[in-house]
Amino acid sequence: MSAAGALLEVDRLTVHHGQLRALTEVSLAVRPGEVHGIIGANGAGKSTLLRTIAGLHKATSGRVVLDGADVTHAPPERRLEAGIALVPEGRRLFPSLTVEENLLVGRHRARSGPFDLAAVYSLFGWMAGRRRQRAAQLSGGEQQAVAIGRALVANPRVLLLDELSLGLAPIVVQRIYELLPKLLASGVTILLVEQDVSQAMRAASRIQCLLEGRTTLEGRPGELSREQVERAYFGSEVSGSGADAPAGGLTGPAAAVGAARAARGEPGEGGPPR
Ligand SMILES: Nc1ncnc2c1ncn2[C@@H]1O[C@H](COP(=O)(O)OP(=O)(O)OP(=O)(O)O)[C@@H](O)[C@H]1O
Ligand SMILES: [Mg+2]
Repeated sequence: MSAAGALLEVDRLTVHHGQLRALTEVSLAVRPGEVHGIIGANGAGKSTLLRTIAGLHKATSGRVVLDGADVTHAPPERRLEAGIALVPEGRRLFPSLTVEENLLVGRHRARSGPFDLAAVYSLFGWMAGRRRQRAAQLSGGEQQAVAIGRALVANPRVLLLDELSLGLAPIVVQRIYELLPKLLASGVTILLVEQDVSQAMRAASRIQCLLEGRTTLEGRPGELSREQVERAYFGSEVSGSGADAPAGGLTGPAAAVGAARAARGEPGEGGPPR
């Protein structure tokens, strides 16, 4: 893949968890101002990819390059300083700390830039008034917002978002995704992972599908057919029975074509996100 103009480049990344090879020669290039979406079924390697980019897993081989600088062997805190911040799957807040204390965790090693606590409080109108509440007292959507805020106060150049929609009601997911244009406008580039394919198709300018740790499809959402996405998501031998559908019903590939309909707020075939 030509990485000309890429802010974040992943070059033939292979990652193991013990004996298990979780990623095999995965490459991607995210250009500034883009939303690059990674889709794939449970266990496809999506979180492993984001975590390896953030420095939380070691690469067996391959490279992670930020703005031309090779960070493959840099520890996570160095990558954070360089501008890579992760919003991890499942939020991972400190439940007994307050909202503000959780946000302050993100200020450690922060770059300078537009996002400080005040900017996050202005992005999420409800948050300042609840800054002294413990994270455990927040709803799932509120916790997701704090997790995003915690990553933002590091002033990342590239924000890695792992399954923002996990366990949230559709209206909450919609509100969270409505933030993305604002983040892009403030200069943040986004690499997101979604199991909800229709959501990823709406949000991303490029889509990449992983299957068993390998890239099976890449392209612009509007250029990918439902059949292509299904084949890439499930593997070629599976045909549309939905037997292996992602948890929560066909929020997966079958919903891809219904994405435009869902975007207009009409009931689709996607069902609720997990
Ligand atoms: N820390 C770990 N130790 C051992 N195996 C792991 C570890 N993390 C992930 N794996 C395995 O690596 C593979 C990829 O997992 P990963 O969590 O990256 O997938 P995923 O696409 O994020 O899945 P999900 O949609 O369920 O979040 C799976 O087979 C998983 O069981
Ligand atoms: Mg995952």
